[in-house]
Amino acid sequence: MGVIELCNISSICIGRAKPICLIEGNQRRRITCMASSVSVQEEESHQQKQCVNGGSFIRTHLLKLSPYQPILPFEVNEALGAMKFPYIYPDPESRTLRAALAEDSGLESEYILAGCGADELIDLIMRCMLDPGDKIVDCPPTFTMYEFDAAVNGADVIKVTRNPDFSLDVEQIAEVVEREKPKCIFLTSPNNPDGSIIDDETLLKILHLPILVILDEAYVEFSGMESKMKWVKKHENLIVLRTFSKRAGLAGLRVGYGAFPRSIIEFLWRAKQPYNVSVAAEVAACTALKNPAYLEVS
Ligand SMILES: Cc1ncc(COP(=O)(O)O)c(C=O)c1O
Repeated sequence: MGVIELCNISSICIGRAKPICLIEGNQRRRITCMASSVSVQEEESHQQKQCVNGGSFIRTHLLKLSPYQPILPFEVNEALGAMKFPYIYPDPESRTLRAALAEDSGLESEYILAGCGADELIDLIMRCMLDPGDKIVDCPPTFTMYEFDAAVNGADVIKVTRNPDFSLDVEQIAEVVEREKPKCIFLTSPNNPDGSIIDDETLLKILHLPILVILDEAYVEFSGMESKMKWVKKHENLIVLRTFSKRAGLAGLRVGYGAFPRSIIEFLWRAKQPYNVSVAAEVAACTALKNPAYLEVS
C-alpha cells in the first residue's frame, strides 16, 4: 500500500485504466492505492463477471409491469399556484367549502363541519363526547384510529369482532350496548381493510340502539353507494364522516368533513381549533369539487 501526495493537478491516470480521480484547483489531496498483482484489465473483466443485476431475480412478467403513477391533480395544482393570500389565517368556518359541500351532498351547510382530515374529526368527536372511563364500541378488523383516539381521550374500547365474512355482529353489539352502556360506536362503510359495506337494514338496527353512531364513509365514493350524510336530519344519534384524502387524492392537504345533527354540531363548533382547515386545503377541496372529471379519475 502506498500514499501519493497530489497538488495542483487536474487528473491522474494509473496504468491503462480510466482516470480514477479528478481534482480541480490547488487543493492538496491524498489518494490511497492498494498494490495488486492482478492487472487492471484482468481486474475489470473479473468485476464484470461478478457484477450481478438485481433485476435478474425479478419474475419475468413483472419486468413489463408499468410503475405506479400517482394522479396529478392538475386543476388543484393550478388553483394552489394562483392563490393570492395563502399565508393569511383561513376562514374559521370554511364557508366556501361548506357551501360547495352542501351543493355536492344535498345537505344544508348548517349540518356540515370541515376538519383537518377525517382524523381530526374523529378526535374532535371523542373530545366532545367522552369523559375518561367512558366506553366506545369498535368493530375490528377496521381502521385503527378509533382505538388510538379513544386511548388518547382516556376512553375504554369494547371490541366486537366482525363475523368471518366481515359483516357486523349486530346481536353482540346490541348485547354490549345494553350491558356496558358505551357512548359511541364507530362503523366504517366501506370498511378498511376489507371493503365490506354496511347495509341499510343493519345500520338502522344499530341506529335504534341508545348509542351515538359514527359512520365513517372515507371510501364511499369507491362503493357505488350513496352517502348517508342526509340521514343526520332524521337520526339525532348519527354522524357521517368523509374525506378528500380518498375522494380526491388530496391526503397531503388534510381536508375531511362530517355531517352532524344540529343538536351536536353546535358543540363541535365551540370546541374545534379555529383554523383547522388551511387556506390551501380549502382552495384544493373546492377546486376538486368543481371538477367532477378529476374526482371521477381519482
Ligand atoms: C376508514 C378511514 N377513515 C378515515 C381515514 C383518515 O382520513 P383523513 O386522511 O381524512 O384523516 C382513513 C385513512 O386511511 C380511513 O381509512
